[in-house]
Amino acid sequence: MPGHNDSTHPADSMNVANGGCPRSRRLGEFREALRADLDFHGANGKHSRHGWHPFPAKFPPQLPQFFIERLSRPGDVVLDPMFGSGTTVLEAARLGRRAVGCDIDPLARLITEAKLGRVAPSEALRVGNTVVEQARCRIHERPAALQAALTQRLDGKTRAFVDYWFRPEQQLELVALLDAIESCAPGRLRMFMEMVFSSTIIAKSGGVSLARDLAHTRPHRVLGKEPKSALEEFAKKLKSALANAGDGVAPIEADIRAKSAEDTGLPCCSVDLIVTSPPYANNAIDYMRAHKFSLVWLGWKISDLTDIRARYLGHEAAATRVFNPLPTPCENTIARLRHVDRKKAAALRRYFGEMTSVIGEMHRVMKRGCCAVIVVGTSNLRGIDVETQRGLAAIGESVGFELVHIGSRRLDRDKRMLPARWGGGRATQIEKRMHEEHVIGLMK
Ligand SMILES: C[S@@+](CC[C@H](N)C(=O)[O-])C[C@H]1O[C@@H](n2cnc3c(N)ncnc32)[C@H](O)[C@@H]1O
Repeated sequence: MPGHNDSTHPADSMNVANGGCPRSRRLGEFREALRADLDFHGANGKHSRHGWHPFPAKFPPQLPQFFIERLSRPGDVVLDPMFGSGTTVLEAARLGRRAVGCDIDPLARLITEAKLGRVAPSEALRVGNTVVEQARCRIHERPAALQAALTQRLDGKTRAFVDYWFRPEQQLELVALLDAIESCAPGRLRMFMEMVFSSTIIAKSGGVSLARDLAHTRPHRVLGKEPKSALEEFAKKLKSALANAGDGVAPIEADIRAKSAEDTGLPCCSVDLIVTSPPYANNAIDYMRAHKFSLVWLGWKISDLTDIRARYLGHEAAATRVFNPLPTPCENTIARLRHVDRKKAAALRRYFGEMTSVIGEMHRVMKRGCCAVIVVGTSNLRGIDVETQRGLAAIGESVGFELVHIGSRRLDRDKRMLPARWGGGRATQIEKRMHEEHVIGLMK
């Protein structure tokens, strides 16, 4: 691992704060990186724990890896203030950087912490098999106790949600699995088991609820659906997760925060690199709509989850905050949209307003001469292409960043999970653009 004075590392000479080397060199290398082929089609996106749990619009791991290797060095602090399924955090930690991340979504944190945890495959397989066996015994021997546990765990509103979306057989299996996880998984394996549990519910091909399209965050109830057995799914998901666990003996160190990206709690000028992607502007991927299907089982009440959802960046709920005037590209798009839909225009103002706080916070915590990479897809609101990348780039400049370049990448339709509406049929010009992402490069 190169020390901080090792001037042969490409990132050394770029860090003004640490190395006093020309900023122009770092700028040139960053620009070149942003112009490279960033599609990563054909690359394995599921290696080393990355495929453990579905998460819409997650990065291919090669994307953060590419920037982390070029723009930071071992020991540097790498931040993702909206880490989602933890792709940047895991890659940064794997590459020997000090990884830090924030997300307000409890399922994002569970998935990420599970990925970072100590999971020795043979022990996890033994414990997981015991969980399934114990759950099976409870279902046969103590169904009344399980019914009582359901009543105890779920308040009225949450129970109504569960009754609507899950058949009684699956409810019993799920509560039996939870009881067994709580009694036989030791502390260090608990998050891993809960993550496996969640992946039986939020699954690309159906899962154990009555919902379709859950992994796309567009659930609809299909009464004719024959949901899968939760016990069998748990056993399957356990095996497939362990096939990609690595040796997993040591936990991977990272600083995971249940904080908003607008207020990370990090000191000023403490971060060497940011690689992140915010939610879409029109809430097209409504994470909480899908995540509550497993979070209700993991101790969260529907009412708490509704509150968290309203704190998502750019959520459609009316903003109570007043935002300062935005850069011209943002104001222009909002004005065009206001002619056709005032409500959506107000939501877009909230999105750009909140992203101004987020990007301002990124600027505050970063060291001078360091780089931020923001990956974003655009949104189509009432036939208007929001050109989110232009808006966010202008916001970056307004808070003091230098805009280095806006690169683009074409999404692998088979891999990157986007809302179902964009997946098939005859795509319009704008929808075609939805299969492209922009990679905004900013430098402090
Ligand atoms: C596009 S996803 C990130 C995906 C991630 N790059 C990955 O590879 O999995 C956007 C994330 O922003 C998070 N988010 C939304 N509002 C937030 C806020 N106020 N603070 C922090 N994270 C937020 C969501 O929970 C979601 O996980």
